This record gives sequence, structure tokens and C-alpha cells, in this order.
Amino acid sequence: MTNPPPLHDPDARGFASDNYAGIHPEILEAITRANGGHQVAYGADVYTQHLQGVFQQHFGAVATAYPVFNGTGANVISLQAMTERWDAVICAESAHINVDECGAPERVAGLKLLAVPTSQGKLTPDLVDLAAGGRGDEHRAQPKVVSITQSTELGTLYSVDEVAAIVEHAHARDLAVHLDGARIANAAAALDVPMRAFTTDVGVDVVSFGGTKNGMMVGECVVVINPDAVRGMAFLRKLSMQLASKMRFVSVQFDALLSDDLWLRNARRANAMAARLEAAVRGVDGVELKRAAEVNSVFAILPAAAAGRLQGRYPFYVWDEQSGEVRWMTSFDTTEADVDGFAVALREEMAAEVSRGQAG
Ligand SMILES: Cc1ncc(COP(=O)(O)O)c(C=O)c1O
Repeated sequence: MTNPPPLHDPDARGFASDNYAGIHPEILEAITRANGGHQVAYGADVYTQHLQGVFQQHFGAVATAYPVFNGTGANVISLQAMTERWDAVICAESAHINVDECGAPERVAGLKLLAVPTSQGKLTPDLVDLAAGGRGDEHRAQPKVVSITQSTELGTLYSVDEVAAIVEHAHARDLAVHLDGARIANAAAALDVPMRAFTTDVGVDVVSFGGTKNGMMVGECVVVINPDAVRGMAFLRKLSMQLASKMRFVSVQFDALLSDDLWLRNARRANAMAARLEAAVRGVDGVELKRAAEVNSVFAILPAAAAGRLQGRYPFYVWDEQSGEVRWMTSFDTTEADVDGFAVALREEMAAEVSRGQAG
């Protein structure tokens, strides 16, 4: 029997998202390794058990890992486990939980989100205070958790000290801290510190740990660092439809990602390609870069017509229709040639824009 050809061009890469990328070959090999024979279902398999020790190496001896299917699920389970029905979660207005989860934290977890406007997607102790009032007032949802994203949805980074300051401030007010780490590896790579430096070591209670955007096929993980901050994790994972029966195939991917620095190699490459992209497009006439590319994305403003033509050549997202801001995101498999080709295409489209303007 001959294999059918792929339905897509396996060499095509764009700048839309790190989850457009395929599976890292070492992850694919790991999945194959875990295949064959029978294993207990629902996480009682040897791969998931082994994984506990792997996560503990990164997050400390009391960390417990709960593999799940996706990041929205990880966030919804984490926040549900950290709150009572009358509680609220303080987050940045731009947080994924507030903008991009179809209301799941509200609809599925039944939570009140207290979303605070920020300029760069980052909360500060002062911004937390803007939403932390109303304690003990039965008319108000009770602030219970501060959720931060590292790295943020706007491609910015909290320093270790910034996270530490938020955690200290939050804990002093009896607020627990959740960290949405869909891109935690990119953050650690950019800061050049272990992941525990801005989680366990500074007192973050629960992490939604990202795998999919960093080379895995599918899977994220709730990492409970402080067991006192949660309750009912195992039940909530099932209730939230995030308990994989063939969990060994999710767990073995994390093992491959975390055991041999693959997480760091992948994140470093993605970050380096964004830095290369930023350098290549900085100074192109008519293109305004909104902020430094701290991890694996570059945000820019350019004329909508040029952006539209460029999208026909390389997929990427318009981030903000009103301002015309676009996001160019790199991933573990982005090559230098991809970046250089994109920069040439951008220059061509911007030059075409200028000549159209002159003609018009
Ligand atoms: C910061 C952040 N958190 C969580 C998610 C959740 O991802 P998903 O539910 O698509 O796996 C994403 C995905 O884009 C994200 O960027």
C-alpha cells in the first residue's frame, strides 16, 4: 500500500502563531516509544507517574503535575481549584483568560474576572490594588486570585523581581497567584533563569504549563506548587472534560520536552528568530514597532493594505483592527531563511505602498 501525499506543503511556514508549527521530531519519537502494549488508562500509567518526578526537578519537591488537553482547560481547572463560587480573579484586561477563552472561566468555572487595563499586558502591585477592594462585602465578588501571564499575550516579560513583588503583595492580602505559562519556556529562556526562579522560588501557587506552543503535539499541564492553594484538582480535571484516557501519550511528550532541555532549545530558537525578525524589520519605512521583542513575537503597525498583501504571502494575524497592529510570531521551527524571506517580502510590500501612494 502506498502512503497518500500530505494535504499541505510540509515546508510552508508563516508567522501566525507558535501553534501553527508541527511536532518536534524528538516529541514524535517519544510518542512512538510510549506506543505498543497496554497501559493503565486515565493517568495511572508509568509515563504519567514518571512525569511527576520530572516536573518536581523543575518546580520543586512538592509540585504535582496534572496533564490536560489544552491551555484553556489548564486555566479553567486551575482557577476553579483556587476559588469558591463567590470568588473573583484579578487579571490584566489583555489576559488570555479574559479575551481568548470564549468566556470559559466565566461560563465553565463560573468565575468573576476583574480585568484591569494595563499598558503592556503586565499587572503591578498597584494595578492589583485597583481591583482588590470589596473584601467582606457580601455584594461584591471576593477577590481571591491574581492571574498573571508569563510571557504575556503582548510578548512582554515580567522580570523575576516583578513577579516576586506581585506575589508578595498578593499573599499579604490573602490572594493566591496563578501563572498562565502557555509560553513559560520562552520567558525562562529570555530571562536566562530556570522556570522555578519566577514561580516556585517567588511563591507562585499554581502554573498552567504550556507544551503545545513549544513543540508538543497536544497537551498542557496544571502544576500545583502550593497544595494548600487548591482543592479537588483530580475531580475538577474530570468534571472539566480534561482527563485524557490515553494519558501516557500526553505525559511522554512532557517527559521528552523537559528531560533533555528540549524545552529550552526550542524556546531559545523561537526567541532568537523573533530577535532576528525585529532587527530585520526595524527601520523599514512606514513600519512602526510597538514594543521590544522580548520573547517570540514582534508587534508592528503598518498600512492595512500592505498588511493584507503580506498576509497573502505569509500568514499572520492582525492583532488590533483599529490601530492596524499586527503580530508576527516565531516558533521552534522558524528558520533564518524564513525570517529573511519575510523581511524581503515586507520591504517589497511597503515599497509598493509608497509607489501606490505617489500614483494616487
Ligand atoms: C497566554 C495563553 N494562555 C492560554 C492559551 C490557551 O491555549 P489553548 O486553549 O488554545 O490551548 C493560549 C493560547 O493561545 C495563550 O496564548
